[in-house]
Amino acid sequence: MKAILFALLLLCVSQGRHQTRGIQMPNEYIVKDLIHESVGIETLETPHFNIYFNHNPTTRWDHPIMYFKSHILVVQKTILDNVPGILEKFFWGFSKFMEFRTQGMNGKLSLIDENFLEHKGISEILGIPTHHVMLTNFAYELFAYCTSIVAHDKNGEIIHARNMDYPLYQSMQNLTYTADFFDNGEFLFRSTMFAGYTGVFTAMKPGKFAISINERHTKTAMGIGVNILRFITGSYSPASLLKHTCRYAQSYNEAKEILSKYPLTAPVYLIVSGTEVDQGAIISRDRSGAADIWLINNHSTADWVIVQTNYDHWIKPSPASDKERANTAYHHLKNIGRSELDKENIVTDVLQIPQILNRGTIYSTVMQAKITTGHSTDVDVGGAYFKNYRYQ
Ligand SMILES: *[C@@H]1O[C@H](CO)[C@@H](O)[C@H](O)[C@H]1NC(C)=O
Ligand SMILES: *[C@@H]1O[C@H](CO)[C@@H](O)[C@H](O)[C@H]1NC(C)=O
Repeated sequence: MKAILFALLLLCVSQGRHQTRGIQMPNEYIVKDLIHESVGIETLETPHFNIYFNHNPTTRWDHPIMYFKSHILVVQKTILDNVPGILEKFFWGFSKFMEFRTQGMNGKLSLIDENFLEHKGISEILGIPTHHVMLTNFAYELFAYCTSIVAHDKNGEIIHARNMDYPLYQSMQNLTYTADFFDNGEFLFRSTMFAGYTGVFTAMKPGKFAISINERHTKTAMGIGVNILRFITGSYSPASLLKHTCRYAQSYNEAKEILSKYPLTAPVYLIVSGTEVDQGAIISRDRSGAADIWLINNHSTADWVIVQTNYDHWIKPSPASDKERANTAYHHLKNIGRSELDKENIVTDVLQIPQILNRGTIYSTVMQAKITTGHSTDVDVGGAYFKNYRYQ
């Protein structure tokens, strides 16, 4: 079995040499080509589900999967139609190996085993092979084009806001929901989720911290092969590291530490905010550790707010649209000014400005992890603030 896996892996890696991304999206889904097109703003409520870590991984996601089943199958098909056959075969082999490995397993599971059992449970409800769910979960993380902002607002509180832009926006819009995660009766965190996907891109742990992910372009041709290799050898995928952090970290500093250091399958930007002045960081991650940590600074005229799109802030970006999106965001944030910035105008006057809001934007989320009971009735999460805007 190990020999087969290894052979498949070598094939994937050698294919990776000829293909930068490994997975091709159909042209109509490429966000960068749509970046200048704004959309009519029609926001929708996101459906809401509870997820319980103390439930068996194979049944943990049942409710959202049943609810979104027909929409998930559309997205699965689009992704599968566009991945190289070799990748599909590889995940088939990997799923057989995991099936064998997790047989009769119980007690405390490693992340890789737990993920597999979750994907297995999801595939049973969808009526498709487990490796298709594994493969689409793997593929999702390669294409999260985003804008994330951490700022001090007019009350001196930390505010964290993000747009999620995604190539498959037409069908992903129908997969967006809000999840509250619990363990043994205790509420842990809230997240904006995509049904069928078990990683976390946007989340808040009330009274502690908020986090978002932006994709960081993989430059090496071997990228996808290395991602897979690290995936198998137990590195966290960025979105499963976010989930792990939200589940276990108890403070902003602890979250920042985990997000900076744990081994990852792929480079990524991790944006984290806390509850006190100067608690905000954009961590530019390499697979093995932080390439750069950029901190918000209350006493700086430039860095009282920090913005991340999809380029390293210390180099000239390509594609240029990533930088334009960040510049537009800065321009509008400075127009509002820190004496006026609040949880509403960061949406209407920044996130929903054309270019920052574009055809690929699926949702905006605004988070304030600090508990300020009394301020936030419609978005109350134990007294902290979390609001989703889903676009159609
Ligand atoms: C999304 O859902 C709406 C409402 O059910 C439907 O009209 C639309 O066709 C769906 N879009 C896609 C791309 O599946
Ligand atoms: C943060 O900066 C603002 C504006 O310069 C200032 O009024 C405030 O006192 C500062 N807060 C802290 C905790 O330093």
